[in-house]
Amino acid sequence: MKSALITGITGQDGAYLAKFLLDKGYDVFGTYRRLSTPNFWRLQYLDVFDRVNLIPADLVDSSSIEEAIRISQPHEVYHLAAQSFVGTSFEQPVGAGDITGLGVTRILEAVRTIKPDARFYQASTSELFGKGNAVVQSESTPFQPASPYSAAKLYGYWVTRIYRDGYGIFACNGILFNHESPLRGLEFVTRKISNAAAKIKLGIDKDIRLGNLDAKRDWGYAQEYVESMWSMLQQDKPEDYVIATNETHSVKEFAELAFSLLGLDWEKHVITDKKLLRPLDVQLLQGDYSKAQKLIGWIPKLKFKGLVELMVKEDLNRWERWLKGERFPWDAPNYPNENKILSRQFKLDR
Ligand code: NAP
Ligand code: GDD
Repeated sequence: MKSALITGITGQDGAYLAKFLLDKGYDVFGTYRRLSTPNFWRLQYLDVFDRVNLIPADLVDSSSIEEAIRISQPHEVYHLAAQSFVGTSFEQPVGAGDITGLGVTRILEAVRTIKPDARFYQASTSELFGKGNAVVQSESTPFQPASPYSAAKLYGYWVTRIYRDGYGIFACNGILFNHESPLRGLEFVTRKISNAAAKIKLGIDKDIRLGNLDAKRDWGYAQEYVESMWSMLQQDKPEDYVIATNETHSVKEFAELAFSLLGLDWEKHVITDKKLLRPLDVQLLQGDYSKAQKLIGWIPKLKFKGLVELMVKEDLNRWERWLKGERFPWDAPNYPNENKILSRQFKLDR
């Protein structure tokens, strides 16, 4: 039986990937952080919590990462753990570099010294393209990161290539464009909107505050994207691949569609708030996935409209069940109202 180690198994992608690999017959190990309150709701939601092996580890602590490799003796390592929210990386830039950047070297060093024949996947990102001016981005588009998060990811991207070329590790970068699902964290704009639209429809809330409505993203479905991670590691040669839908839509379009699916007018409920603007933002992402299609046979199936519908329906359903008194593991009831979060204000007049 093959074994796989997933760092960040409690996150959106970690949970979907765990289910995918279990269904393929893998022995799945996952790292999680010790928190004062357990955080396994996504694994429970997908009904795989009892089927995974859990190992406590933190990306800032090399010894815990080495231990995770020693315990799991993995054939494949999927390095998904990171401080993954771009907004937070502006508030905690040093932590972003340590966790999201140096964390990659810590795990690659553990692979190199303990299990050098393990195949390694690095969760790279379309944020690497940042403020570049290509209209459609592919593996050959130059990188121009625009946040501490993407600068850290750029380091992770290169260190992965260096371990591939320098030490012969089978290491791949998946340059994944934004991918969403009902398991997405509530701070990301898609789930923030689907959750708010559902609450407004049911009279629990009245409005939602958003920042840059004009930013455009290439949004796909997380459950499909994790399959590409596995495919990359099954090839004869390690390579880097863009995974995307090759469509782009604005935040405004997302809000308009989400509210209209519930019979609501988005303009009556969306308040734009300068406090939610980032010091720098990526304006346009649209990915060319033709290399992945050609070499690993991956294509996106669920596109923008279907994705928005899936997320809105699921959040509406959860809130309806909750209001009827049903109790089940999920994140939204415990999430603080954004007005209560006193985050750093950025000086935006340049
Ligand atoms: P996510 O839901 O935020 O999950 C991140 C995971 O990393 C969580 O399990 C989290 O643990 C863990 N983590 C955070 N800090 C850690 C630390 N110091 N030590 C150990 N674990 C830590 O992110 P995701 O959407 O699944 O994304 C997975 C990966 O793909 C990330 O590296 C992200 O940057 C990258 N990526 C995501 C997208 C996207 O659109 N989703 C696109 C491109 C690349 P807790 O649960 O304890 O917080
Ligand atoms: N989060 C958030 N909240 N974003 C908002 C809001 C808001 O209230 N209002 C507008 N936006 C805009 C952001 O400024 C950004 O331009 C866009 O919506 C998307 O923001 P996020 O959903 O936070 O995602 P992201 O694109 O910054 O980053 C995600 O995708 C990357 C891949 O391109 C994350 O998953 C990263 O980890 C990932 O690498």
